Amino acid sequence: MLITRRSFFKELRIKTLRGFWTDYFNQHSAELADKYPGLNLQRFLLEVKDIVALKLKAPVDLDQSEYSASEHLTDELSELFLKGMPFAYILENAEFFHHNYYVNKNVLIPRPETEYLVDMIVKEFKDKANRVLDVGTGSGVIILSLLAHGVGKAGVGVDISDEALEVAKINCQRLALEKKVQLIKSDRLQKVEGTFDLIVSNPPYIKASSHKELVHKSVDKYEPHQALYLPDDFYVFWFEDFFAEIRSHLKGTFFMEGHELELDDQAKMLGRLGFQNIKVLNDMSGTKRYLKATI
Ligand SMILES: C[S@@+](CC[C@H](N)C(=O)[O-])C[C@H]1O[C@@H](n2cnc3c(N)ncnc32)[C@H](O)[C@@H]1O
Repeated sequence: MLITRRSFFKELRIKTLRGFWTDYFNQHSAELADKYPGLNLQRFLLEVKDIVALKLKAPVDLDQSEYSASEHLTDELSELFLKGMPFAYILENAEFFHHNYYVNKNVLIPRPETEYLVDMIVKEFKDKANRVLDVGTGSGVIILSLLAHGVGKAGVGVDISDEALEVAKINCQRLALEKKVQLIKSDRLQKVEGTFDLIVSNPPYIKASSHKELVHKSVDKYEPHQALYLPDDFYVFWFEDFFAEIRSHLKGTFFMEGHELELDDQAKMLGRLGFQNIKVLNDMSGTKRYLKATI
């Protein structure tokens, strides 16, 4: 009979990594479901595999690795999981539109909705844009994905946060786009010069009070508030100033990700400022998620 390493482990009652973390998942399923909505065992084990490999700096096979080889990590990881620390921050990595990006606590973890926006733009603007601007660049995923996929010959990414710009710089180097992308510290477009034929933004768009109950507690706890929230009483003014700045730097198309409850009003705001061809577009779940307009 063929004795595999897996059955050998079973025979000797040695716990594999899969065995240990499966038991952990089953014992803490309620707490984990609360912290990580939609998490199932299969995905949890994939995340654990990547995290343990990163920490051990070696590839890991859940069935071939004895749990004891990484026992020293158990307390640390168990605690992080029960606190709901996003996997991307533990891994310092987020996958976005065919690339891996460095992320840390100073940047928003890029979302599938933003990936969907980038996909739409790539389909429409590949080889068709010259200068592209990304406002609120964070980890740089939007501007770097666009440039890496042939949208724009040169790009500018701006952010108000020095720490976020440090992350964007690392990603710019990872994708070897330093010569094409300039990163600038700026409050919206205040320090931006020149015009662009494409401006894209995923700004902070959650109202700090009235929208907050829709935000998952782990997002609120771990992700930078500067990337998420704007004060309720400042919200309209913030976007009015922002759109006016966009208008004076745009000779082409503007795309923005935004809040489903605000986009219709913001579309009207764009109309008052003289933007044309204004559309509110849905995301992959059919929820209003983006603005598109031209000058
Ligand atoms: C929702 S995050 C988007 C990050 C990234 N573009 C993405 O899509 O994953 C918003 C970003 O805007 C930046 N930000 C907030 N207020 C800003 C402002 N007034 N001017 C420029 N950037 C700002 C935040 O630091 C954050 O990085």
